[in-house]
Amino acid sequence: MKILIPGSFDPPTNGHIDVITRCLKVFDEVLVGVIVNPSKESLFSTEVRSEMLNEVFSKNKNVTVKSFEGLLVDFAKDNNVNAIVKGLRAMTDFDYELQMAQMNFNLADFETIFIPTSPEYGYVSSSLVKEIHSYGGDVDELVPENVSKRLKDV
Ligand code: PNS
Repeated sequence: MKILIPGSFDPPTNGHIDVITRCLKVFDEVLVGVIVNPSKESLFSTEVRSEMLNEVFSKNKNVTVKSFEGLLVDFAKDNNVNAIVKGLRAMTDFDYELQMAQMNFNLADFETIFIPTSPEYGYVSSSLVKEIHSYGGDVDELVPENVSKRLKDV
């Protein structure tokens, strides 16, 4: 089974890596979809966000990273995925994710599977990583090493 994990990944966190890694134990193939979002100011370009994910999974041939624009369901269809997978950190994620899952099913009959984030990453988000980093805080424990290095350059 081939699944799609979509997101902004600006930047990828240990929480994202945990969800992708755990999916690899359950599904045959994982496609990571990095959204190109011109309306949202991002810290890293789409290319760099994709590159950071590719670096982490360079040794795993079952992970592919691609960027996409437009509707998620169109990207999912074009890449022949069987389902979309989203990580859930807490109930606060659930409300919005449920709405998107129902909308994506309504749009194109795509199923969304939720996977709970490991508790140690429950509080980790890309936005908090960026905020802490912008004030000079240490985010080394929250992101992969390659991401931490890139953050030091911005
Ligand atoms: O990491 P994020 O920012 O929470 O990811 C959000 C993402 C990319 C999964 C979501 O914004 C998305 O699916 N965008 C694609 C546009 C789309 O299909 N919108 C309708 C969703 S019901």
